[in-house]
Amino acid sequence: MCRINLSNYDLIKNCRICNSTNLHLILDLGEQPPANSLINKSQLDIIEPKFPLRLFWCGECFLVQLLDIVNKEHLFKHYLYMTSASKPIVDHFKKYAVDIFNEFLNKQENPFVVEIGSNDGSLLKEFKKLGSSILGIEPASNLAKLANDSDITTLNDFFSLNNAKKIAESKNASIVVANNVIGHIENLHELMEGIKILIGAQGIFIFEVPYLLDLIKKLEFDTVYHEHLSYFSILPINNLIEHFDLEIFDIQKQNVHGGTIRIFVSKKNNFKIKDNVKKFIKLEYEFGINNIKTYENFSNDIKNLKNKIVELLKNLKNEKKSLFGYGASAKGNVLLNYCNIDYNILDYIIDTTPLKQGKFTPGTHIPILSSEKISEKGNNDVGLLLAWNYEFEILEKEKSFRSRGGLFLIPIPVPMLK
Ligand code: TYD
Repeated sequence: MCRINLSNYDLIKNCRICNSTNLHLILDLGEQPPANSLINKSQLDIIEPKFPLRLFWCGECFLVQLLDIVNKEHLFKHYLYMTSASKPIVDHFKKYAVDIFNEFLNKQENPFVVEIGSNDGSLLKEFKKLGSSILGIEPASNLAKLANDSDITTLNDFFSLNNAKKIAESKNASIVVANNVIGHIENLHELMEGIKILIGAQGIFIFEVPYLLDLIKKLEFDTVYHEHLSYFSILPINNLIEHFDLEIFDIQKQNVHGGTIRIFVSKKNNFKIKDNVKKFIKLEYEFGINNIKTYENFSNDIKNLKNKIVELLKNLKNEKKSLFGYGASAKGNVLLNYCNIDYNILDYIIDTTPLKQGKFTPGTHIPILSSEKISEKGNNDVGLLLAWNYEFEILEKEKSFRSRGGLFLIPIPVPMLK
C-alpha cells in the first residue's frame, strides 16, 4: 500500500547542480519511512508516512542524488542524532578543530568560525576552547537548545542566503564549516551564494561529505536515505563551486562515516591548489563516475548483498540464536526496512543515545534499549552491527561480550560473523 504523505513530499525533475533532465534511476530501495523518525510506543498502531527512496544519476554533471524530496521541516525540526553520543566523532572533531586552527587561524586576531548544521555544538566547543568566536546554525530546536544551554551560541534556523547576509553585515567568517550537512541541502545554489557572502574576500569554506566512491566500493547502500539528497564526488562539486567563482584548493580523505572527504574552498587565487585535487578528478574518471555501467553493477551488487544478509539471519534464527541490533543509526533503519528485518527477527536494538532509548525503529518497530543490556548477553547471542562505521571501536569496546561467546554480524560489504 502506498502511504506517501503528499503534503510532505515533492518529486523534482532536474539535477540539483546542473539543472539537466538527463537523470537515470540507478537504485530503488522501496518506500521507506524517514530513517531518523523513531516512534513512541503509543504510535505503534498508527500508519507511518513512507516515501520512495530511489537514487538517480545525472548523465551531464554526474551528481548522484535523490529526486524524491521529503519536506525538510518534517525531517530536521526535531532531530534525535546527537554528535556527542558517538565517541569516535567527538574524537574526530577534537582533532579537526586543532588541525584547522593550527593551519589557518592561530595567526588571526579575532578568528570567527561559523558552522552550518552544528548539531549539539560538539565541534564549535573545540574551536571555542582554542580561542575562536563561534556561531552555530542548527534547525533542530532540541539540539540548538542543548548547544545554547552549554554556551555554544546557536541560531535555531536553516542556513539561508538571508541568514548569511545578516551574519556578514557584522562580521565575515574566517571559516565556515559544514560536516555531513551539504548533502542534506536541497538548494545548493542558494547555499553557495550564502557561503560566498559569508566568507568575504579571505575566508575559507571547509566541509566534509561522505565520498561517493567509498559508498559504491564498500556497498554502503544504507547511507542512502531521505535526509541525504546528494551523494558527492569531486567532479560535480567542482562544477558547482566554479559556477560561483570559487575554487577547491585541497581535498583530504578522512576515516569517518565509512569514508569521507574534507574539501577546502576559497575565493580564486587565495591559496596554492594542492596536486591532490587533480589526482582525485583523474581517479574518478578511471573509476567510471561518468559511466552508467558503474551504477548498474552497483545496483546488482546491492540486490545480491540483501539476499545474503537475509539468508544469513534466517540461518542464525534456525540455529535458535538470539538476535539483537547494535546502534539504532539512520543507516540501520534503511538496512532493516530494505531487507524486511523487523521485531520478529531482532529482539531489540541497543544504543547509547539517551534520546533514542525507549523508542521504536520506524517501519520495523524494534524496541531501542540502553547499551547496558549487552552485559547480559554472551553465548548464543548475535548482534547485527547497524553502526558498522564504528566496527573497530565497538568490537574493542564490547570485548567482554565476545569473550563470553557473543558474535557480531557485520552486514557490509560482505556479511561476516566476528
Ligand atoms: P551513526 O553511524 O553515527 O549515524 P547515522 O545515524 O547517520 O547512520 O549512528 C551510530 C548510532 O550508534 C548512534 O545512534 C549512536 C550509536 N552508537 C552506540 O550505540 N554505541 C557506540 O559505541 C557508538 C560508537 C555509537
